[in-house]
Amino acid sequence: MPLEIVQGDIAAQDCAAVVTAANKELAGGGGVDGVIHRAAGPQLLRAIRRVGGTPTGTAVITPAFELAERGVQFVIHAVGPIWRGGGSGEAELLAGAYRRSLELAFANGCACVAFPSLSTGVYGYPAEKAAPVALATILEFLSGHPELEVRMVLYDVGSLHVFQRALARLAT
Ligand code: APR
Repeated sequence: MPLEIVQGDIAAQDCAAVVTAANKELAGGGGVDGVIHRAAGPQLLRAIRRVGGTPTGTAVITPAFELAERGVQFVIHAVGPIWRGGGSGEAELLAGAYRRSLELAFANGCACVAFPSLSTGVYGYPAEKAAPVALATILEFLSGHPELEVRMVLYDVGSLHVFQRALARLAT
């Protein structure tokens, strides 16, 4: 199955590329980003500081440093939008963050990429609205790149069910 939806910890995944929920300054953060940085070690922060920043709706790729022990080669730093009510282009920006991450994983030869749910934590994007955008973007990319495997990793069971229901609706 090229797209699977699982409950778990993004830092415990063994995909060649793991996506983190970054900010546009690439300054490091809490949530998913804190977990990834702790697992990858301090070289990861030094690497993204050298990049300096990336606009909302885009992503950058770095080595995975100490996450390589799990078979992870790359960390993709994706910047989703802050939720401002839905009328500020949030859906397009969220789709852009997923699409750019997928492009980077594919361009770097990754067979598998693991995503957290971008923007649905500190950035406040309602999971019910984010899930169909995320999944439709992933499915569209996979239709042109069927050899790529995508794993959506949801931390809590509520988000897991939201994503499972959204996938079922997209499939009908
Ligand atoms: N594995 C997978 N998912 C996780 C984990 C984990 N270990 N920990 C938290 N999550 C989930 C949250 O429950 C949330 O649904 O990831 C989702 C994204 O949450 P955030 O990390 O807060 O990301 P986001 O909403 O995109 O906010 C990004 O937060 O840490 C800062 O620097 C970061 O400014 C940026 C902002």
